[in-house]
Amino acid sequence: MEKTSGKGRSKHLSRNLLRSALSSVRRAKRLHVLVKHFPDYMPAWRSYPPVHTALPAAALRSAVRALTHQHAASALDQAQLALKRLYPNRELLLVASGTTALQLALTATRDGVGRPCVALPAYCCPDLGSATIGAGFAAQLYDVDPLTLQPDYSSLVRALKAGATHVVAAHLFGRLVDVQAVSNIASEFGSVVIEDAAQHAGATLRGVRGGALAPLSVLSFGRGKGLNAGGGGALLWDSSVQGEYSFTLAPASPAGKQLLAAAAASVLSNPMLYSIPRNIPALALGETRYHAPQPPRAMHAATAALLVATLAAEPAALQERQRNEDWYERELSDHHALRVANLGGCVSGALRYPLRIKTGRADPLAPLGVARSYPRTLSDYPAINAVLSVKSPMPGATELAGTLHTLPTHGLLREHDRVRIVRSVTGENG
Ligand SMILES: Cc1ncc(COP(=O)(O)O)c(C=O)c1O
Repeated sequence: MEKTSGKGRSKHLSRNLLRSALSSVRRAKRLHVLVKHFPDYMPAWRSYPPVHTALPAAALRSAVRALTHQHAASALDQAQLALKRLYPNRELLLVASGTTALQLALTATRDGVGRPCVALPAYCCPDLGSATIGAGFAAQLYDVDPLTLQPDYSSLVRALKAGATHVVAAHLFGRLVDVQAVSNIASEFGSVVIEDAAQHAGATLRGVRGGALAPLSVLSFGRGKGLNAGGGGALLWDSSVQGEYSFTLAPASPAGKQLLAAAAASVLSNPMLYSIPRNIPALALGETRYHAPQPPRAMHAATAALLVATLAAEPAALQERQRNEDWYERELSDHHALRVANLGGCVSGALRYPLRIKTGRADPLAPLGVARSYPRTLSDYPAINAVLSVKSPMPGATELAGTLHTLPTHGLLREHDRVRIVRSVTGENG
């Protein structure tokens, strides 16, 4: 009788699990069609994720194929080529995550700057702190304007005067930060600007796509992003400004778990099923956590295969999100106290629609995909607080942490769901 090794058995198990996940995708699709034909059918358990980018079953199949040696190299080459089409004048390196890309951007530009210290937006994803710590930098925070999500420029100048050698300008929810304005200020202090375009979601500023707004930029392909490959990231740089870099990366971690998570998320994001993961506390969906830094790793070929598919699907998904964001903009045009203004010249990637709402009003809307954004400022994470070289109050970021929520822009929501959300947040429901 043929014996299967432990490794062989777990490969076999992973394949079977993936196969059953794929068939669940098909079943969930049939349910989705049913809901489409009965738009007012809203059973109590129906609920929506705050952010969603579909991963077609074909993408998951090509990712499974990329698990084999034979297809791995071509998946990575194709991803490289597809990204190069979006960023023709940039060098690029595919890595395990956006956090890794940011960590590498910091380490690559560390030499010759004295005591490395990076200025980070006080209101942002704590992964920025993780990359900072991984790169061995100290940090300072600069405040964020709650009306626009742009940097508070006087606070940024204070951080630079106090010795920040680097600045990270980070886009949020598909709205772009004015990286040029940040660069103009930073150049007076000889500081390096890194564009964190993890959440640019296809947005452009004066015709230039996020990820090409600074000589050094970072992308993420995690699940909550516009380009969802279930994970992965990229470092982009302009070699005519930055010169050549060479990086040493550890090999990619095995991708089986990541693929299973991507397949499960794809199935469970169906509105008829999403209340299952939403109500499992161990999954901590929507919670923002600090993750300790990891050694920089390469992107897995299976992630690259998903990236190719998500890049091909981007134009249609982007258009749908932008249509929904335009709808919110029109419906909420008189509610200036709630809205966050978009930067002039920015065509939003509409990853989520940011709105300043009282938590009590927003909480009941969680099943409709209305989610609290970052509930803490970066200084509230003990690991990040420990590397801050200057500590000062950040009133804008504190206000955002207390009020900022996002409305879903993805195509799973229909107009009557959005009408319910708008009526509730504006108080028109009484
Ligand atoms: C603004 C921002 N930068 C960086 C990252 C890190 O990306 P990743 O999750 O791919 O490590 C994230 C993740 O959510 C993010 O939102």
